[in-house]
Amino acid sequence: MKSLWNDKEAKSFGNDPLQLRVYTSRLLGQESSLVLHGGGNTSVKAAITTVFGDKEDVLFIKGSGIDLKTIEAHQFAPVRLDVLQQMATLDTLTDSEMVNLQRSAVIDYTAPNPSLEAILHAIIPFQYVDHTHADEVVVITNNKRGEKLIREIYGDRVLVVPYTKAGFALAKTVYQMAQNIEWRNIEGLILMNHGLLTFGDDAKTSYKRMIRLVSQAQKFLQQHGALDAVATAEPAEDLLGLSRIRREISRAWGAPVIAMLDQSKEACGFSNLANLDYIATRGPITADHIIRTKPIPVILGANTKNNIDDFISAYRDYFNRNTNDRLTMLDPAPRWAVWPHYGTIAFGKNIREAKIVFDIAKHTVKAIQYGEAIGGWLPLSEKHIFDMEYWELQQAKLQKRDARPELQGKIALVTGAASGIGLACSEALKDQGAVVVGLDVNPECTLILDGKNAVGITCDVTDIKQVKETVEMTVRQFGGLDILISNAGLFTANQKIEDLDEEVWYRSMELNLSSHQRLLKTCIPYLKHGIDPAVVVVASKNVPAPGPGAAAYSVAKAGLTQLARLAAMELGPYGIRVNIIHPDAVYDTALWTPEVLEQRAKHYGLTVDEYKTKNILKTEVSSKDVANLVCALVGPAFAKTTGAQIPIDGGNERVI
Ligand code: NAI
Repeated sequence: MKSLWNDKEAKSFGNDPLQLRVYTSRLLGQESSLVLHGGGNTSVKAAITTVFGDKEDVLFIKGSGIDLKTIEAHQFAPVRLDVLQQMATLDTLTDSEMVNLQRSAVIDYTAPNPSLEAILHAIIPFQYVDHTHADEVVVITNNKRGEKLIREIYGDRVLVVPYTKAGFALAKTVYQMAQNIEWRNIEGLILMNHGLLTFGDDAKTSYKRMIRLVSQAQKFLQQHGALDAVATAEPAEDLLGLSRIRREISRAWGAPVIAMLDQSKEACGFSNLANLDYIATRGPITADHIIRTKPIPVILGANTKNNIDDFISAYRDYFNRNTNDRLTMLDPAPRWAVWPHYGTIAFGKNIREAKIVFDIAKHTVKAIQYGEAIGGWLPLSEKHIFDMEYWELQQAKLQKRDARPELQGKIALVTGAASGIGLACSEALKDQGAVVVGLDVNPECTLILDGKNAVGITCDVTDIKQVKETVEMTVRQFGGLDILISNAGLFTANQKIEDLDEEVWYRSMELNLSSHQRLLKTCIPYLKHGIDPAVVVVASKNVPAPGPGAAAYSVAKAGLTQLARLAAMELGPYGIRVNIIHPDAVYDTALWTPEVLEQRAKHYGLTVDEYKTKNILKTEVSSKDVANLVCALVGPAFAKTTGAQIPIDGGNERVI
């Protein structure tokens, strides 16, 4: 492993110990084989001056759950060092007591909760302490001869700590073991089945020791052929199969999930292994991953439903074997799956959660094979795994679950997403928890929707090849499709029939009618495997109340309405709802420029404001109003409605 330390870069962080702590913490965070998503922790000891002018020693320790890759100085919690060191002398301390005591010793009320390893960092008599879960080191400890191999690699330069649960128990174990050691003679601690710590009087020493110890483990694995023992295979693809799996997993979760497929050569190679059932079900790399991944993945076979049901019943057995009567069983559904020949799949209620599991699974797949190559993958015992999964802090979280957004875990496709109604729908669906793929011919949509849980794709809906690619990309990336908002459209020129250009007529038919038909056709196979699937077609007031001069537009939208009504009939048996909205006069869209508004208002002898509220309710209809209706239509409020045509126009006598 290469050291990323750079003198010039380090200098730019100044001489402040905390700033240098930020620098090397970020260096560690950049290496995914060292720490993943909030894993690992780092600290620095420093003296601060209190408001009374006294000096006080403080441990700046990473806030719990903060990502080292992007950590900032204020994300380190300053904790009174003497309190932490005194805690290590206690005989017993529950996890809740430890968290409370640590919190009460934090000297800045705006700071995050200190990492659960704060006591351990406090008792190590060096200014800087770095702690990672380096795959290469943990793999070697996850072995029948783990301790022997570690000694073979490091000799007496490390203290080998038998597996102990993170938090007070681990700190206490190290505290007791440290009574008989000379800290200056060692470079680090190897925590069996867990990770390693290094330390030093300056940031560089501690960081470089980490890189050195991990590099030695890497070299050992290399020499034993482990790094080359990772199987690979050419990816295969079955997107309908993936949609089916996601639906079964969502059933097991009791709510829709995102399913992130890893079809890399490594994931496919792993999924092809002959002894998969045997090696993939022994346990995780480190206990730290269990909360995210559960102890093992589900192995899928010919019957996904049975595989998942078997997994759940095995999980219940595992819980019953290990529980006491105070514990509540966590949700037993799998967090990731191995799908023979196709790779691995990570599940989560949103992209962030699924991505964390995806990354952990990627590392686990390799680690298991490294482990097999050096004599056998032997992770933690079931008892230790259970203790970690069911520790009291985790159980406490069950009591304070946040309300679930209505569309969480759903996957939505919105066309014409760069502007007006399409953009408002994308934002609203995203705010309600759905993952949104927004397509637009305008390439700016990739920037506009480049946020959490929403991606923008440049796609011309009149080009079937692009549409097909985008729909497939959506399923490949997120596991399926539940919601389609067929919205892209354009008001073609105001021309009476006798003056109608052929080009205008065909352009309107192509975009406002045919493109919707092709998109729907492409999406139907996936919607059939969707979760409470729903389609909303954006038509127009022009359908129930056409206006002269709008033949090309009105006829296309009327055809689109008829298409949607037929779709409601054809797709109803598959549980797919198809509803139609007829907006009118939605002025905060690109369809309406200030000039056009001015012109139309003048035509009616009204001011622009009067024109905007020219409806029965005397109200202005915004694209957000339309988006709210769309969200309701795809949600539970309209679960029993299909084939409906709903105006959103402030009330119009001709429509009523
Ligand atoms: P808008 O012009 O703000 O948004 C339409 C979006 O569709 C634009 O981002 C545009 O780039 C995109 N688009 C156009 N051609 C495309 C193509 N070939 N492929 C992919 N994307 C394409 O207009 P607005 O008002 O948001 O329109 C949305 C829908 O609402 C349209 O179907 C329109 O007919 C309908 N509508 C709008 C009303 C209004 O008053 N704004 C009234 C009645 C219906």
